Amino acid sequence: MRFDDLPGQTAIITGGARGLGYSLATALAGQGVKVGLLDILPLVGDSAATLAAEFGVETAGVVTDVTDAASVEAGFAAVRDTLGTPTILITAAGVTTWGDSVDVTPEEWARVVNINLTGTFFATQSFARPLIGAGATASAVLISSMSARVVNVPQRQTSYNATKAAVDQLGASLAVEWASEGIRVNAIAPGYFLSDMTRQFTEKNPELAADWIARIPLGRMGEPRDLHGLVLLLASDASSYLTGQSLVIDGGYTAI
Ligand SMILES: NC(=O)c1ccc[n+]([C@@H]2O[C@H](COP(=O)([O-])OP(=O)(O)OC[C@H]3O[C@@H](n4cnc5c(N)ncnc54)[C@H](O)[C@@H]3O)[C@@H](O)[C@H]2O)c1
Repeated sequence: MRFDDLPGQTAIITGGARGLGYSLATALAGQGVKVGLLDILPLVGDSAATLAAEFGVETAGVVTDVTDAASVEAGFAAVRDTLGTPTILITAAGVTTWGDSVDVTPEEWARVVNINLTGTFFATQSFARPLIGAGATASAVLISSMSARVVNVPQRQTSYNATKAAVDQLGASLAVEWASEGIRVNAIAPGYFLSDMTRQFTEKNPELAADWIARIPLGRMGEPRDLHGLVLLLASDASSYLTGQSLVIDGGYTAI
């Protein structure tokens, strides 16, 4: 599929060094979008170089901690200086931790909230600042989760579920606030996808993957490329009347 308005735009992707963020970077680069990757992993530079070599687009990779507003602002400035002002944002930086709620330490709770919620907010702030008042046409896609709406089982991940629900409402709030500025804000809410985040659990416990898959009507976990069509649509003007929504993409998991 081709989206004619995308070539030549600049996208910025938090958590873009690997996983779903990097996969979405390949989807955008494949449309001729220049891509800036921000991630706490030093690998982010190599990821950006691989992307440029594979797709022939300009890229940048900047080590950034999304929990630190100054680091996020510096990461955005570095991308803007090399690739131009980003008009597409994808927030993919996120973490999860599992355990009984009564045992979660204040530090574990704060880490998940700071990365998943506050880090997403800082990214949207830095994205919007140069666009406000500039007559922009721009789109932000926040990576939420189906965990914003359902409680995944059998694992216990209260902090993750709560932060993803907050990300959905963050996106809706910003969509309303920035609609008149030409900035659309939507979220996507994936079900179970194959990535480093999920492999850390399923590789140690293959029965867990079997349990998840048994609950998915389409009969498999998602591959990162299963998100490409939806995210390209949201990034493009082809969805110009779509804002303030969180769209579930889960193989039917939450339809049951
Ligand atoms: N894999 C799934 O099944 C699934 C399902 C629903 C939602 N999601 C969401 O998709 C997003 C991507 O997850 P993934 O599965 O690709 O996991 P992943 O662990 O492969 O990728 C997450 C990325 O975020 C980065 N990151 C973590 N803390 C950071 C920080 N402080 N600053 C900057 N970057 C940081 C990591 O280094 C990593 O590159 C997450 O928000 C996750 O919650 C994943």
